[in-house]
Amino acid sequence: MQQLFFVNTKKMEKTLLLEGIEYAEDNLQNDEASHLKVDKALIPKLMDLDGKRIIDFGCGMGGMTLWYAKNWDCEIYGVDIDHHHITVAEHLKLKHQISNVYFEQRNIVEDPLAGKFDYIFLNDVVEHIREDYLVNIFQQLSKALGPKGRIFISYPPWKSPYASHLNHVIKIPWVQFFPKGIVDQLIEKHNHPIVGDLEGDLREAYDGLNHMTHKKLMGIMNQTDLKLAYRKSHCIVNRISAFENINLRFFPLNFLITKEFALFEK
Ligand SMILES: C[S@@+](CC[C@H](N)C(=O)[O-])C[C@H]1O[C@@H](n2cnc3c(N)ncnc32)[C@H](O)[C@@H]1O
Repeated sequence: MQQLFFVNTKKMEKTLLLEGIEYAEDNLQNDEASHLKVDKALIPKLMDLDGKRIIDFGCGMGGMTLWYAKNWDCEIYGVDIDHHHITVAEHLKLKHQISNVYFEQRNIVEDPLAGKFDYIFLNDVVEHIREDYLVNIFQQLSKALGPKGRIFISYPPWKSPYASHLNHVIKIPWVQFFPKGIVDQLIEKHNHPIVGDLEGDLREAYDGLNHMTHKKLMGIMNQTDLKLAYRKSHCIVNRISAFENINLRFFPLNFLITKEFALFEK
């Protein structure tokens, strides 16, 4: 894939850049603490990425992209629409001297991907993009899949205790179900800038959520040629080893599902 060079539309504050690097470095190095903990445990059980060409779509600040690159002998391209996120990712790549990874700012709907890929990952991405736009994105991603290629998706479903993405500051699970006026007041009280050219603070990030569910995701995928090949719902109860592999999707345990995982293929 061709590397693109770009000029930032808004300049990122140095403190935000440093915060971004610290956050992404934690995603790269700390397998226990990040929102990607269950992803990191599940992915090696499902697939071997050695020798594969991979897209990390919506790679953000690149911590997870660099984790894939470090753990497998693969060729991985981190693609994100946000300049600021890619800037952080490039800094982290340089810092860790990881060479089998390439970052690129790109809107794949206007500027489709070139080449074919064995795996495309979307870790915590689908809940951040408008549903109608996701249809366009998956139509493009499907075209970029090689023979036997697969798309891996993870996201916190809207009923999840942490789906508000506010939990690190407003430490109230399921806060998204509080009356709108209360949520607005809490966000206003805790609002602060975050890394992002497109979503630059908590308010914008919260408003950008699409309240994703498995049903909504399937509605989107049914408008593409992609078919569900695997689904796992990770519930808090799955932390008990006897229940580890059971999908607990019924009420009220469905409110304890922290992450949905799905594999799609053509
Ligand atoms: C919550 S972040 C996830 C980042 C990373 N995958 C991770 O798990 O740490 C969601 C990312 O999706 C990106 N994104 C949103 N819309 C996009 C689009 N249309 N094309 C590419 N990336 C997009 C955002 O810029 C953001 O970096």
